[in-house]
Amino acid sequence: MNLVLFGPPGSGKGTQADRIKDRARLMHISTGDLLRAAVAAGSELGRKVEGILSAGELVSDDIVLALIKEAVGAVAESEEYSGWILDGFPRTLGQASGLDSLLDAAGQKMDSVVVLEVDRDEIMKRLLSRARGDDNPETISNRLDVYEAQTKPILDYYEGRVTIHRIDGAQTMDEVTADIERSLA
Ligand code: AP5
Repeated sequence: MNLVLFGPPGSGKGTQADRIKDRARLMHISTGDLLRAAVAAGSELGRKVEGILSAGELVSDDIVLALIKEAVGAVAESEEYSGWILDGFPRTLGQASGLDSLLDAAGQKMDSVVVLEVDRDEIMKRLLSRARGDDNPETISNRLDVYEAQTKPILDYYEGRVTIHRIDGAQTMDEVTADIERSLA
């Protein structure tokens, strides 16, 4: 099974990916985690993207597509995993079409998109109490604006091409997990 977990910053994508990944031996692939790991390692990639993450802007499509190509390729070669959950990717129409090309070339397909719907006030509350490096009011606000302008329109691109499950992400974590499990059953 290959899934995309979709939703605004703070909607619970990472939380839920961790909870459902073992149900069918899925690898959790988070572009945010991969980019933060590069920053923490002080690699050339990390130095290049550090300021972009701090500002809540998007890293270029070619950089994230290269990360995804490597991760999805590793899943295909692994006996440990039978599929993947993409978290925080795709985030632009260019990334969505790049993913389609990459999957076509690899003979793979995406099975469904799970959208976590949470309103802006709840997101602000969640992220301000977590306080990651990019969890300050200004950056959160920019991340939400970037989501509305560049990421949300991807759902129109997927409409009619792939199954989309919309989940109320404002429920408790357990309720959200149960709804996701039900939608994928
Ligand atoms: P990324 O790491 O993807 O951050 P994000 O999308 O802003 O999402 P978050 O990790 O903040 O939220 P989440 O939806 O995973 O929620 P979580 O489970 O953590 O990206 C960071 C940056 O990297 C981007 O801004 C960009 O610069 C760059 N980047 C990444 N991918 C990119 C791409 N594809 N292209 C270009 N640039 C890219 O939960 C959040 C909090 O809420 C936690 O404290 C959690 O405990 C809590 N919570 C979760 N669920 C619930 C619940 N049901 N009830 C109450 N609290 C909850």
